[in-house]
Parts: sequence; C-alpha cells; structure tokens
Amino acid sequence: MVDRNGPNRGAVAPGSPQRPPSTFVEQANVADGEVYEEFEEEWPECWERAAALLEWDRAYEAVLEDDDAPFYRWFAGGRLNASYNCLDRHLEAGRKNHAAIWWEGKRGESQTYTYRELFVAVNEFAATLRELGVEEDDVVTISLPMIPELPIAMLACARIGAPHSVVFAGLSADALAARMDAANSEYLVTCDGYYRRGDAFNQKRKADNAVLTVEQDVTTVVVDRLGEALPHVLGENQYDYDELVRAHEGARVEPVSRDAEDMLFLMYTSGTTGQPKGVVHTTGGYLAYTAWTTHAVLDVEPEDTYWCSADIGWITGHSYIVYGPLALGTTTLMYEGATDYPDRDRLWEIVDRNAVDVFYTAPTAIQAFMKWGEEYPEAHDLSSLRLLGSVGEPISPRPWQWYYEHVGNEACPIVDTWWQTETGGHVITTLPGVCEMKPGAAGPPLPGLDARIVDDAGEEVEPGASGYLTLHRPWPGMARTLYDGDDRYVEEYWQQFSDPDADEWVYFSGDAARVDEGGYVTILGRVDDVINVSGHRLSTMEIESAILDVQGVAEAAVVGGTGMTGTHVYAYVSTENDAESDATMSERIVSTVEAAIGPIARPEEVVFTSELPKTRSGKIMRRLLEDIASDEELGDTSALRNPEVVGEIQTATREE
Ligand code: WTA
Repeated sequence: MVDRNGPNRGAVAPGSPQRPPSTFVEQANVADGEVYEEFEEEWPECWERAAALLEWDRAYEAVLEDDDAPFYRWFAGGRLNASYNCLDRHLEAGRKNHAAIWWEGKRGESQTYTYRELFVAVNEFAATLRELGVEEDDVVTISLPMIPELPIAMLACARIGAPHSVVFAGLSADALAARMDAANSEYLVTCDGYYRRGDAFNQKRKADNAVLTVEQDVTTVVVDRLGEALPHVLGENQYDYDELVRAHEGARVEPVSRDAEDMLFLMYTSGTTGQPKGVVHTTGGYLAYTAWTTHAVLDVEPEDTYWCSADIGWITGHSYIVYGPLALGTTTLMYEGATDYPDRDRLWEIVDRNAVDVFYTAPTAIQAFMKWGEEYPEAHDLSSLRLLGSVGEPISPRPWQWYYEHVGNEACPIVDTWWQTETGGHVITTLPGVCEMKPGAAGPPLPGLDARIVDDAGEEVEPGASGYLTLHRPWPGMARTLYDGDDRYVEEYWQQFSDPDADEWVYFSGDAARVDEGGYVTILGRVDDVINVSGHRLSTMEIESAILDVQGVAEAAVVGGTGMTGTHVYAYVSTENDAESDATMSERIVSTVEAAIGPIARPEEVVFTSELPKTRSGKIMRRLLEDIASDEELGDTSALRNPEVVGEIQTATREE
C-alpha cells in the first residue's frame, strides 16, 4: 500500500546539509543539542517545560495520564484559560502597549491592536456572546476571512469556555452547513463579504444559505467588512457585530477557568471518507504545545514581529498566527490579501515595511515566488528576517535553496515543519539553533517525539526505504478525539498499527515517508484518500460524491496530479451517456464541486473516459490515474481488468 501514491514521486534526494548561520545560533531560544537527550531521559516530565510557558489557575497533578490510551490526558487536574494566557497576563506584565496584532488589509489598510486593545475587544465580544445566550461548552462556528474580528471572536469564545469551530471562509454554503450540523452549533459569526481580487464577494448570502439548511436554530452575528460596497440586510436572529459590541463597550468578562482537558476548539478537516472529521483540541496541552513549538522551532521572542502567511481558517493559522504567538506575547502579523495583489512584491513590501523577524509560509507560495523571479524580493530590504519556515507540503531542494538565498540572504535557517491538524503543532522539523538543515528533508522528530517509518506489518523499515509515518509516543498538542465520536477517532488513527492487547498505541499519520541514516525524515505525501492542494487538505471521496450528484455521471474518480506547479485536482469521469461528455457537462461538474466544497476543490481537469481503470475485484485503480495525471511512468498495471482504457485515458488527459 505504500506505493499507492508512488512512494518516490516528487521526492528529490535531499540537497547537501547546511549548518545554521552562527549569527542565528548565538541568539536562538534553543541552542543546546542536549535538549534531545534531556527529553528522552525525563519523558514525560520534559513536557513541564511547555506547561511552564503558561500561567495556570490551578497546578496540574500529573503531566500525563495514559491509563485509557489512546485517550491520553495531559496536565491532568490543571486549570487555565487560553484567552487569559494570550491577553491578561501580558497586561499584568506591563506590556499593555505592545502590539499584539498587526493587520494588513487587502486594500492597503492596516490596523494595529495593542495587547490592551485586543483585550478590550475580546472582552466586549465575550460579553456579547454571553448575552446572545452562548454558554460554556456551546460550539460557536466562525466563518470569517482574515480580518481582526476572527482572532477576536476565537479568543472571546476561549474566554467564556465556548469551543470555536472556525470554518475556512472560502468553503461553500453546503460545507459550512455540514460542519455546523455535525457540531450541533447554534451560533455563527460571519461577515457581509470580503474583497476577492478587488471585487466584493458576498459571504453573507452564503452563510444565509447554509443556515437555511442547518437543522437547529442559528443566531448569526455579522461583521460589516464592506460597508457601502455591499449593503446587506439583517434578518431574524441576525445581529450586527459593531452594534452588539458598542452595547457592551467597556464590558469585562472574567475568564472562565477551564480544565486542561476541556475542549478549546474543534477544527474540521478532510478524512478518508466524504464526512469531514471534527478534530478536538484541548485547552492545556494544545496551548502549552503551540507555545513551546513557537518558542523552540519558530524561535519567536516577545519583541519580534512574526508573520505566518497561512489562513486562520486552517490549523496553521490557529496554532501559529493566534495561539502560539499570542501566548508568548509577541506581535503577530495578520495579512488578508493575496501574494500577488496588487503586485508580486506585496509580501516583501510587508516584510520590509514592518521589519518582520520571522516569516512562515507554504511551499506553493515559495514555488510561485521562484517562478516570478528574484527581482521581487530583491527590490526590498529583507534584512530584518532571522528565520524562515515552511509548512503544508514537502518543499523540494530547489525552492528551498531559492528561499534560503533570495529571501533569507543565506543568513536565516529554514525550518521545514511537518505536522497536521491532528497533531496540533510541529512534530518533525529541525530545531533551528541546533540542527543542520537538509534541504528537502523535514528533519528529525522534535525532542520528546518518537516518529518511525514502518511497513505494512508495523515493522520499522531500513533507512532509505519508504513506509508509513507513525508516531509512537503521545505529545501534549495531540488531538484528543473526534467530535463525531471516540470510535471513529480510534479507527482513523490508532487501529492500523497498534497492539491494544499489549497496550501499545501507535498513531498513523496517513503520510508516507522515509528516513535517512542520520534520522532525517523526508515526507513523501499522503497514502490515503486525502490530497493536498496548495496546502488545503481535500478528501477525494468528498469531491467524488459531489460529482456523482451531477446528472448523467456514472462513475467518478478524483486524484491529485502532481507536476511543476504543485498538486491539482483531476477528476476522471465516465458518463451514463457518452454523448453528454462535453464542455457543458464538464462545467456542471466543476460548478457542482465548487458549490459542495468551495473553489479550492475546483478540478483542474475533468477527463471523460468510457470506463475507469479497475482491478479484477472491481476497485478503481486510483494509483494509475495519479500516475497519468502526474505524467509519470505507469506503475504495475497487471492487476487491471480493462487495460485497454489506459491509452484512451492518457490521451484524453494530455488533450485537456
Ligand atoms: C502535509 C497542516 C511535507 C502532510 C499543518 C500532512 C507536509 C498534511 C508538511 C496535514 C511538510 C504538512 N512537509 N508535508 N513540512 N506539513 N504536510 O492537517 O501530508 O492541513 O499529513 O495540517 O499536510 O495537513 P493539515
């Protein structure tokens, strides 16, 4: 099964190792390599270092309780509030006028929130939520673009102990409704609309459509982002954000003391079935882990201006725009716009103007920068940068080198951080002040983590061989369960390689990887039915089921095709009536996918074929379609029942 994705696809041999620049090492938060041994010797007490970065209302009694594995409990008995840790304590430490959020809007606007101002805004909105009826443990859905009200709403929820479920604003009405239904969420915070490449896009209409189909009654709060550019009308049970907040001006809400294991938030992510998974993260372990990794891996200091260019609608933004950086009291930059609007130097202009110290982005973006050319970063002074990060996909040595030279000026280490929604924070990456970097390989597991590459039988494979990436020890930031139920949690992650009789629990990541002699892990990509398109995790099953809803479609197989420009969605479709397989049908399929999931899932190509390639047992051979979509040499096709369709499909794919 490991070769399901073609194990070596896209994985170029790592480039030559590089030591981190000494100027960086001298000032690094973690510069002593002993940390690896210390974590080994002191495990699990080593994680007290993470917990010590927070302020607790009540001290925990045990670092780890594992008697009910794989349902681990971290910092059991401890109590704390996440919003208190991200706000109040920084005010008490005399840092009220320090910038918490620097927001850069799409239209050149910018806004700064000091810790004091953010504290005030969060309190006022927390009071508002309370008045609307939100109680502790009620799930509040937030679907907002990258505007300050998004982290404000998250922290307001955290303050009153109401878990938030942020749904990426670009997802469709159907996808939003499905997530609200699954979480039984009766509250929605959204906005009238936002600008997409200069045009006003109506978000409220989408939210309204979603609310219409949700089973429960929903109270909606609408942020006015567009003003006159897109007038909107509030219906029943819908409230204007500003008006509500104005009515609570100056309000203070006592942070609710939460058990370390109480849910901080839910994050829906794509799984191997069409049904998204509601990943549950807790207050103590998650916050301690994101604070620790922001400190140790991203090397963030309170005085820094730190910028992660992800969207807060996904886990990277939760952990490394909001919770980690704010827990440490740093200045986190939040950017609403695109990388190339109004021009291709937009990001470098922001780095230059704000003297950004640490910059964290995704390989898709880096590849685009590389394609556009070095003149864009070179037009700006990027000398404030100290560290660069990459997340979301494997970064190949060439873009790595480009990033290192043209953005980091060979003076900034790069951390290639492998992790997942489920892991809460970084798992495999170099520690930038300690490790040498091997371009193309993410690095060793972090101190205290135990990552291994195993075969089908769960046996560790030799260095150089590919296998499944598994984690053999729990860590504080790990998901605790799925909102949909404990059984699904065990089935999805803990069933494949664990030995419950021996009480040996192994977490399966869904990724393939290989490790070199030095313990550096190279990620090879997903082995399940999840594809990673520009850092968005999509379920092929979810897209397929949308396509199967289109009238006239008989069968559909969706795969990720990987080429020079990254991974794209390829839809292979056979129709009930061949005559229908024309441009109109293709258009219908594309718009159905957009309506069901969102534009991010839009197929790059819809390829019609008389039949899908199938094994003798009737299973669609997706691996073969992936090879075709990626223009790779085809793997073993001897199991095919209908080899004659392969040529037809290859020709049709290339014609598109
Ligand atoms: C992929 C995003 C290679 C991987 C944080 C993982 C990576 C999935 C890397 C999780 C990396 C993430 N190198 N692949 N540095 N980081 N991935 O849940 O396939 O949106 O399983 O979390 O992204 O995606 P998710």
